[in-house]
Amino acid sequence: MNDQETCTSCKQAKKWRDDFPVEWEGDNYVTRREMVKFLTLGSLFLAVASWATAFASKFLHSGSQNRQLLGLSDDLKPNGSALFRYPTAKDPCIAVRTADGKLVAYSQVCTHLSCAVVYDKSEQSLFCPCHNGRFNLEQGAPIAGPPTRPLPRIKLVESNGRIYATEREA
Ligand code: FES
Repeated sequence: MNDQETCTSCKQAKKWRDDFPVEWEGDNYVTRREMVKFLTLGSLFLAVASWATAFASKFLHSGSQNRQLLGLSDDLKPNGSALFRYPTAKDPCIAVRTADGKLVAYSQVCTHLSCAVVYDKSEQSLFCPCHNGRFNLEQGAPIAGPPTRPLPRIKLVESNGRIYATEREA
């Protein structure tokens, strides 16, 4: 009885070895070709994953800056300004309607040391009271004081008597 079982086990083991032959001596041996293939495919996978992550990040980032209603067009008179927050409640911004009716908006955070800029009606520019910094309305570019970088611009759209923020530029 025991011999028969052993014999049956031998047959099963032999069949298994025939179906899946393994060279135990070379089992742990990785050829140079296999190594290069592994590294190439691994690098390709990482490159694709990086690209996919960057694409997804850009897609999600742009999706988070949705169109946001700021108010009625009539409420912002020429040579006037209004404060709002965009794209999040932690991002103060300032919208200005210039004397000739053009609508512009920028981050309210001064690019020098992050004080809040205000609209100076008499000079028709954005003024930072902390160190007398000043930015023009056309591009938000620094024109006086210590700031050297322009204010980030907020894209605005006027539609059906309403003002919307649509995008924050870097
Ligand atoms: S913080 Fe605005 S000029 Fe210094």
